[in-house]
Amino acid sequence: METRQVKFSLRICVFRFMLIQCKKYYLQYGDSLEKYSSDETEDLVFKPDLVVLPVSTQEVAHVLKVSERFHMPVTPRGAGTGLSGGALPIKGGIVLSLEKMNKILEIDEKNLVATVEPGVITEVFQNMVEALGLFYPPDPASRGSCFLGGNVAECSGGPRALKYGVTKDYVLGIEAVLPSGEIIRHGGKLFKNVTGYSLSQLLTGSEGTLAVVTKIIFKLLPLPKYRQILLVTFSSLEVAAQTVSDIFRAGFIPSACEFMEKDAIQASEKHLGIKLPYGNAEALLLIEVDGNRIDILEDDRNQIGELALSKGATDVIIAEDSEKQKEIWRVRRAIGEAVKSHSIYKEEDTVVPRYELPKLVCGVKETGAKYGLTTVCYGHAGDGNVHVNILKTDMTDQKWNCTLPQAIEEIFKLTISLGGTLSGEHGIGYSQKQYMPLAYSKSELELMKRIKKAFDPNGLLNPEKIFP
Ligand code: LAC
Ligand code: ZN
Repeated sequence: METRQVKFSLRICVFRFMLIQCKKYYLQYGDSLEKYSSDETEDLVFKPDLVVLPVSTQEVAHVLKVSERFHMPVTPRGAGTGLSGGALPIKGGIVLSLEKMNKILEIDEKNLVATVEPGVITEVFQNMVEALGLFYPPDPASRGSCFLGGNVAECSGGPRALKYGVTKDYVLGIEAVLPSGEIIRHGGKLFKNVTGYSLSQLLTGSEGTLAVVTKIIFKLLPLPKYRQILLVTFSSLEVAAQTVSDIFRAGFIPSACEFMEKDAIQASEKHLGIKLPYGNAEALLLIEVDGNRIDILEDDRNQIGELALSKGATDVIIAEDSEKQKEIWRVRRAIGEAVKSHSIYKEEDTVVPRYELPKLVCGVKETGAKYGLTTVCYGHAGDGNVHVNILKTDMTDQKWNCTLPQAIEEIFKLTISLGGTLSGEHGIGYSQKQYMPLAYSKSELELMKRIKKAFDPNGLLNPEKIFP
């Protein structure tokens, strides 16, 4: 072992001792670190030296204080479902898992707000508020396992972001711990607040690089009574993408408008052993409308179907009952996992203004063909947010390593030329940081770095993320 490594291991031992001395933390080391070495991002693996599982804000503060004293990098972690490597301990050190802070502290039905700890599973929270006739719309595909704290870190979206907005639109207040161990609070059960800079909004989407969020106050909505779903089939990806903006321009605001190309649907169907009725379509739009009057919804649904047919759709299939609706959503939500299950891959999260969607989808396909890469597109078409999975399949390592960065750069340059940007909802984290200079000027990046420094002067919190 090198001297530096020995010193570091010693530091870890003393650090561990300090933690155990003061508090009864759940500490994990040895083989159990495996689980905390990766997330859902590609095949990236970075092993931490120690995992700490605090149960309270005070314990988080203590861990951060001791870490600062020992100059230990700390990587906060939710459920590890992230897609940009945000929870990976690139420099080793401590993984601070929020999994034990998993209480829904209050659902305030009078004000339609809820206060939660960061380790609550998103779907558990959604079900809990729905049982009270309330609605928390952000619904990332991983909602069955991801944590609300992770959703705040990444400002997660999901299909219903289209009508209802993303996580930041629901964050009214936060409690967080700075890398120094100081506890800060901002916001409250307030729908309006311009009292100084909005620290809660700044922390939302900051990918765990500025502070560790320990409590969140979320806005809730009344739960819409009904949902209607239609599947619209197309013989061309471009026509499917074009139809998306037509729907909005005709005056409809669906609660979801998802795009899936054939390869994406087929992969998911195979993965789940489910077959959707879409014939030989090259692309599908999954359109959902919601509201409190079924007659109005059925009317909207039918009008959207007719509009799509007039714009070139080949068929419209209505999901008659809630079982069929659930099945369609299952297929949609499983696409990400299914597409990636049989090949090395790289996943992008491009987003453009809605009207530019056809140009983005066609451009991605052209770039893929040019470099001999398999691309699979799906995502939140109504938001102009397309997930692009680039699959290695049987390409040689040499060709993959050489063509992939060129293809990604080309896709990002196209995205930006269309007025778009690198990530709509997966974040930059570790896996996309090298492309940040494509999206921002030097002075913009420097300003962001100064913000990071103001929160984390020693660069110990979630290092090696966002900035190239
Ligand atoms: C989805 C995830 C990958 O939309 O964002 O399925
Ligand atoms: Zn998505």
